[in-house]
Amino acid sequence: MKKILVKASKTYPVLIDTNLLGNCGNFIKEAVSPLPAKVALFCDDKVEPLYADTVENSLKASGFETYRFIFKNGEEQKHIGTITQMIEFLAQNDFTRKDLAVALGGGVTGDMTGFSAAIFKRGIRFVQIPTTLLAMVDSSVGGKTGCNLSVGKNLAGAFYQPELVLCDISCLETLDDKNFSCGIAEAIKTAVIQDAELFDLFKKKVTSKDTETLKEIIGRCVEIKAGVVAQDEKESGLRQILNFGHTIGHAIEKLSSYKTAHGEAVAIGMAVITKAFTKLGKVNSALYGDLISVLETNSLPVKHNYTKQELFSAALSDKKRSADSITVVYSPELGKAELLPLKLNEFESLIASSF
Ligand SMILES: NC(=O)c1ccc[n+]([C@@H]2O[C@H](COP(=O)([O-])OP(=O)(O)OC[C@H]3O[C@@H](n4cnc5c(N)ncnc54)[C@H](O)[C@@H]3O)[C@@H](O)[C@H]2O)c1
Repeated sequence: MKKILVKASKTYPVLIDTNLLGNCGNFIKEAVSPLPAKVALFCDDKVEPLYADTVENSLKASGFETYRFIFKNGEEQKHIGTITQMIEFLAQNDFTRKDLAVALGGGVTGDMTGFSAAIFKRGIRFVQIPTTLLAMVDSSVGGKTGCNLSVGKNLAGAFYQPELVLCDISCLETLDDKNFSCGIAEAIKTAVIQDAELFDLFKKKVTSKDTETLKEIIGRCVEIKAGVVAQDEKESGLRQILNFGHTIGHAIEKLSSYKTAHGEAVAIGMAVITKAFTKLGKVNSALYGDLISVLETNSLPVKHNYTKQELFSAALSDKKRSADSITVVYSPELGKAELLPLKLNEFESLIASSF
């Protein structure tokens, strides 16, 4: 089993291996101190029939009193109405600050459970059990929690770290190809900005059956994210590099009314930004071609059908924007990332140069 410690405002372990769910009660007992009495399990209606019983049985066997809250799966559910239901559920079941919330699912479940845990009674503890590759390589680690508002993605939220992250690679066997590729997109993002060797692993298509390769990929991505978060937990500087591909990606998600999945949108966003900066002569000549090839090998989209104006307008609701500027992340060469603050008119020209 791989164990990586994240040292942020709170230090917590990330455990990575196969077949961890059936023993999650014991892992929680080891990591969460003092022990909670009650545990609320949050998961969506697609994950529940697959894994909720296994998790709940293990929690019960470890002596916890368990409660289960289920919501409809999908990004459309990641709104403040679902958060209200989650915290009402905790209140109605008389949860106290000594108790625990567990997120069992993908990034949507993790982000919303974390946010609910952050605001309920000003903070109860929570554990992340990610079941998508995207959540394992990215969203379950680092403490960004939240939900979408009508104006844009993740506009309400809190930085709030979990007590433990349990990545059970066996869960990936039930994940469909599209969602698997979405996780690969975030892992490719991490490789492009920080780890040229990791990038090489994606030159051959990675599948959910490649357990050892996945353990390596998830481990490297978590180590890199832990390193960045340890230096800049609240994203005042360095952490922004993790948003490579995300400003355009979030715009594409919004323009598609969230029909384009987050990982697919990030793949297109990385392609758009790298093309634009290549045209400006700021990117090593091989990178754009290598990136497109690796994304396509892993069944990820690299193109969109929106106009320059649509993309620019939608990108303006990005959190990284201030009144008259926006910080854009690009990679000048494999394994490196740069942050570039641009005036809004410069950003508009940058988008235009990607066409
Ligand atoms: N907090 C962060 O740092 C961070 C980072 C990246 C992305 N995110 C957020 O994460 C979200 C995307 O995460 P996601 O792609 O995991 O989305 P998701 O949670 O919607 O999961 C995708 C789909 O897979 C299903 N699913 C989950 N696990 C499964 C399994 N093992 N087998 C079969 N089906 C399974 C879910 O029910 C859902 O339908 C976005 O909202 C994004 O904003 C957050």
